[in-house]
Amino acid sequence: MKNDVNRQWLIADRPIGRPLKDSDFKYQETSLAQPDEGEVLLRTLYLSFDPAQKGWLENVANYVDPTEIGDVVRGSGIAQVIDSKSPKFKEGDLVSGLVGWQDFPVMPASALNKVPDGVPPTATLGVLGGTGMTAYFGLLHVGKPVAGDTLVVSGAAGATGSVVGQIGKIAGCRVIGIAGGAEKCTWIKDELGFDEAIDYKNDSVRKRLKELCPGGINVMYDNVGGTVLNDCLGEIAMKARVVICGGISRYELGQLPAGPQNYFNLVFKRATMEGFIVLDYTNQFPDASRRISQWIAEGKIKYKEDIQEGLENAPKTLMRLFEGANFGKQLLQVADITAAVT
Ligand SMILES: NC(=O)c1ccc[n+]([C@@H]2O[C@H](COP(=O)([O-])OP(=O)(O)OC[C@H]3O[C@@H](n4cnc5c(N)ncnc54)[C@H](OP(=O)(O)O)[C@@H]3O)[C@@H](O)[C@H]2O)c1
Repeated sequence: MKNDVNRQWLIADRPIGRPLKDSDFKYQETSLAQPDEGEVLLRTLYLSFDPAQKGWLENVANYVDPTEIGDVVRGSGIAQVIDSKSPKFKEGDLVSGLVGWQDFPVMPASALNKVPDGVPPTATLGVLGGTGMTAYFGLLHVGKPVAGDTLVVSGAAGATGSVVGQIGKIAGCRVIGIAGGAEKCTWIKDELGFDEAIDYKNDSVRKRLKELCPGGINVMYDNVGGTVLNDCLGEIAMKARVVICGGISRYELGQLPAGPQNYFNLVFKRATMEGFIVLDYTNQFPDASRRISQWIAEGKIKYKEDIQEGLENAPKTLMRLFEGANFGKQLLQVADITAAVT
């Protein structure tokens, strides 16, 4: 292990108002650091990719600590403990946390969680991790669906949206997903059990919503913003709940877009539109994770992972989210679990 190098990706520029570029990231190799008391040396196995990371690079996300140029790119992942100076973990343990884009992080044990036994480790980055929690709390606590509701989900074939739609089915909703392309639309209908799918790249969203939601939309779970949100606002039912989870269609724009033209429908329909940040529900994650695990075991929730390979591909893997190239939860395998302890 002493001869190993720690490959790292650093923040080189802030992608404000534009798509990500290769030059936003700087590659470097350093020697391994040694853990102090209370710390562990880790070998990164999988990295998770989330649209929010672009906001962290831009430093516009005020719900997390700011980033600095030259920092290791922030990102969550799963790692294996290879040297521990903490009673909390022993060599070989699998842990999750903000390991960053590097091979061998040294982190305080207090900043890490043990990956529970009996679950596929990668699931703790997706359906049983941040994205699953986002789907669960955004839909159930903010959207408050009741049986018989019509639920519309944008970003519906994505890591979050695909789970939202399936929890909506469990809650007894009629679920319509909006996604990009025929393959993703077929998957959410045929594999995940959504009632209908709208291909926003090829269909008129507003026209299809009128056809598919004659009684209006009771719950709109929005991951996208822009024209898709505006079209949905035009079709809400009385007392609708519009959940603002994300707005990926604007993450590459230089300024916040003008408000949606149809927002005044919130008044006519006595509806609410509410945003949320999943981190506010952290103390309830264990319960939600248990429920989602149960639903997976019962076959009521299915999930897909899109696993790219090699730390050298980390920047390109993040870019996939903004190109719609990911099909399922975007992950990157950095090392093999069994090879990690040497
Ligand atoms: N509020 C919170 O606490 C919280 C927490 C986590 C995530 N989020 C938000 O949840 C959303 C989904 O995140 P995720 O991690 O699950 O990612 P994801 O949905 O798995 O991947 C992103 C997807 O967004 C779609 N997309 C990209 N550019 C688009 C555009 N211009 N217009 C419409 N769709 C576009 C693409 O799907 P298509 O191929 O269908 O276009 C892409 O696959 C994001 O907006 C994220 O910021 C919020």
